[in-house]
Amino acid sequence: MRVAILASGSGSNAAALMIHFSNTEGIDVVLVGSNRSSAGVLEKANQAGVASLHFSREELVSGALLMKLKTLKVDWVLLAGFLLKIPKEFCRAFENKILNIHPSLLPKFGGEGMYGMNVHRAVFEAEEKESGMTIHYVNERYDEGAIVFQGRIDVSEFTSAEEIASEVLKLEHEYYPRVAREIILDSQRNIK
Ligand code: GAR
Repeated sequence: MRVAILASGSGSNAAALMIHFSNTEGIDVVLVGSNRSSAGVLEKANQAGVASLHFSREELVSGALLMKLKTLKVDWVLLAGFLLKIPKEFCRAFENKILNIHPSLLPKFGGEGMYGMNVHRAVFEAEEKESGMTIHYVNERYDEGAIVFQGRIDVSEFTSAEEIASEVLKLEHEYYPRVAREIILDSQRNIK
């Protein structure tokens, strides 16, 4: 299965995915794309020897990125801290073939504007007893696709949003590669 990763930030999850899949038979990361030319994730792709691409919002919206992925025969798209909304046509072209990771227990603390530290600050301010991460399918509405996995942690004793962020990120690195691998390899078995 040929995988593209889309990310907007430092790309620690993208790096975890690239490392994991470099040892996974049947999964090849063929492209890492980012809408931010300065995003650390592009450098991480270069270091891993994976092709990288900077694209504009316009290229995402117009379908140019979609065409590029189709040309590369991409089967699955993994979002790893990607902050733009995925257009309807893109979702249709990759129906049930796009996964996202979100740093809260959806449906709590999801939706537009809820990303990165905004999520952890909101969780901390709401005095939540637990938080965690959610892996879900992507549809055209932010954070509303079917949930496939959630990892939980007790945050009741945590004293800052930064502490929540750091522990949730560890969970993300631990589970996103493994869960994505199982789902992708399963989809291949179902085709055969
Ligand atoms: C991750 O915590 C991811 O869950 C979050 O952005 C961070 C990216 O970190 N995604 C969202 O908030 C999406 N709504 P990374 O660049 O180090 O992987």
